[in-house]
Formats: sequence, C-alpha cells, structure tokens
Amino acid sequence: MRIESISIENFRNISSSNFSFHPFANFIVGSNGVGKTNLVESIYVNFFSRSFRTPHLKECIRKGEKNFKISSVINLKGVRHNLTIEFKDGLKTLRIDGKKYLIGEYIKYGMIFVITAGSSKIIYGEPHLKRKFFDSVIMRFYPEYIYDLSKFRKIYRNKIELIKKGVFEKNTFHIWNVQLTQIYFKIFNRRKEFVKILNEMVKGDFLSIENKKIKILYNPSIDFEKKTFEEVVLQLDRSLEKEILKGQLLFGPHRDRFDFFYDGELARTFASAGEKRSILLNIFFKLFELMKTKSGESPVFIFDDIDTEIDEDRIGKVINSLYGKTQIFITSSKEHLFKNFDFDKKLIYLKNPMYS
Ligand SMILES: Nc1ncnc2c1ncn2[C@@H]1O[C@H](COP(=O)(O)OP(=O)(O)OP(=O)(O)O)[C@@H](O)[C@H]1O
Ligand SMILES: [Mg+2]
Repeated sequence: MRIESISIENFRNISSSNFSFHPFANFIVGSNGVGKTNLVESIYVNFFSRSFRTPHLKECIRKGEKNFKISSVINLKGVRHNLTIEFKDGLKTLRIDGKKYLIGEYIKYGMIFVITAGSSKIIYGEPHLKRKFFDSVIMRFYPEYIYDLSKFRKIYRNKIELIKKGVFEKNTFHIWNVQLTQIYFKIFNRRKEFVKILNEMVKGDFLSIENKKIKILYNPSIDFEKKTFEEVVLQLDRSLEKEILKGQLLFGPHRDRFDFFYDGELARTFASAGEKRSILLNIFFKLFELMKTKSGESPVFIFDDIDTEIDEDRIGKVINSLYGKTQIFITSSKEHLFKNFDFDKKLIYLKNPMYS
C-alpha cells in the first residue's frame, strides 16, 4: 500500500495542511512540539478511527474548533482510494471514495504499522498491555477473533456481576463456566498458534551484532493441551468460593500472559532499553512479512521518534532493510540522522507557522 497524500483540518496543532508523500521514504523533521507526532497520529486516526495517544478523540480537535477532518489518497493493489474520517459532535463518519462505511469494512484499508515512543511498553509493560497488543495484531490476521473476544467480554461481565453479588448460585455459575470454557478454548488456540508462527519467524535480533535469540512465551491461565473440556469446567466450578472472596475471575483469557525472552532471559528485567526496542522492531518486521504474505500487499511502516532508545547503527539497519520494500514514514527532531541516506527520499520540515 502507498499513502499518496493527506489533507488535515483542525487536528491538534494543525489548522489546515496538505502533504504529498514519497512512494518509499518520508523523513519528517522539526523541533520538539512542532507537530511530528500529531502528523503521525492523524494518519493513524485516518486509518483506524482511533488514536494511540488518547481514548477520547475529542482531545484531538484543535483548540477552539468543533470538528476535525482527515482525508488521504491511498493506492491499494494498484487502485486509488480516498479515505476520510470526520469527527463532529462526538460522532465519527468514515468514508471510502465518498461512500459511508462502518469500521469493520473501513479498517481493512488500514495496511499500516505504527511504532511510537510508547510502543516499547509492549515488551516491558503490564501483562494487559501485552495481551492488548497480541489481541489487536491477531484481529488483523483473523477478523473473526474480534467476535470471539467480544463474546468473552459478555460472559466475563455476566460472571463478574454474579460474583459481586456474593451469592452461591452454583447452577447459573456452572452455565457461565461452560460458555466461558468454550470461548476460552477458541481464544487459547488462536493465541497459541499465533505465538508459534511468530516464534518460528523471529529467530534472532538481526539489529544486534550478536544476533541474540528472541522468544515469545504464551503462558495461559489454563493450558487446554493438558486438560479435557470437562476438567476445565470442573476447575472453574470449584473456584466459585475463591472468586467470590476475591471479587475476581481467576481463570480466563484476561489472565493469560505473554512474555518476551532475550538470550534466554526475561526481556522485561534483563534486556537494556535499546535491546527492548530492538526486540519490538524485530517483532514488527516479522508481522510486516506475515501480513505481506497473507494479503499480497506491503503494509506502510511509520516510526515516530526513530531515535528513541536505539543507536544510529540500528537506525541505519532499520531504514536500509525496509527501503524499497514498502513506504516508510520516520520522524525525528535530529535531522542529521537522515542526511547519510543517499537514496531517493522526501524530507518534510515542520515549522510552527505552517500549522497555525
Ligand atoms: N487539541 C489541540 N489543539 C491545539 N494544539 C494541540 C492540541 N493537542 C496538542 N497540541 C499541541 O501540539 C504540540 C505537540 O505536538 P507533537 O506532540 O506532535 O510534537 P512533536 O513534534 O512530536 O514533538 P517531540 O519532538 O517533542 O516529540 C504541543 O505544542 C501541543 O500543545
Ligand atoms: Mg513527538
């Protein structure tokens, strides 16, 4: 996929701007606070109808204005499309080539990966951040996974409501446990299979000199490979008393863990900040290849603040290994980082007066 151009109105500090992009390399430079992340964020919002910075799109409306609009021209499988998002009065309107679409259809045009400064939290952050990451990635490969997760959430809400009441309704509890086991089994299989595929692809850290080994471990709260369906239901039924006592569901997809290992050690505590970033980049590179194989299209790569934590040698490796394979967008406040690449590229300088 290629993003040919974008037009942005009233998004954060951008009042009205148009950008046309290079088919391979776009380097966005400018000093702190000038609006580099805002530009990247606007692309993200344009494709996913949500932000990586805030759950409230209202915050993205330029101060003093009432709505924002982002519209891009993309080239997907040789066909040009126009993707537009408008946010007004708390409502999003999504359009492809002028026609309104719901998010489920619209999101299929979002063939992009965005890596921001905060993305490293996937490696070292709380377990729920890792689950959220894997779930969001699995959804992009297997859209039906979205429905499995929402079914689980519904069961979770019903079960927790029952537990919070503190009443020993064993039969109702059993019915929810059977349903929970059914949906958990599906989610478990998807997560297990996906991690296996990724582990087969992500062998070592190609950004490091030593090519240290990277491994992802999926640690479910119940291992369905070691238990029968009936045994799992029984285990859940028996946990009623404990769950009421703690006011929590002790088993389920919301308790699964994903851990990253680097050179045989837990990356969260063992790897340096730059190494954690390298692990993340290695994983995104493999996701890129997986998506390319699955869809026949190369996803666009966007790095906000490329120099976050990684050294110049690694930055060079990242850029050189992607150049020509797809379209890349890279931001940094350090312009010199991009000076040594002699391939054809576009440097986009952001200056405050442009935006106001
Ligand atoms: N809703 C809004 N309306 C107007 N301005 C906003 C809004 N939200 C954020 N800003 C402004 O946008 C600017 C931040 O821009 P951004 O985060 O894109 O900077 P940056 O170029 O990425 O900087 P850095 O190099 O520090 O990462 C800030 O000056 C902030 O005040
Ligand atoms: Mg920024």
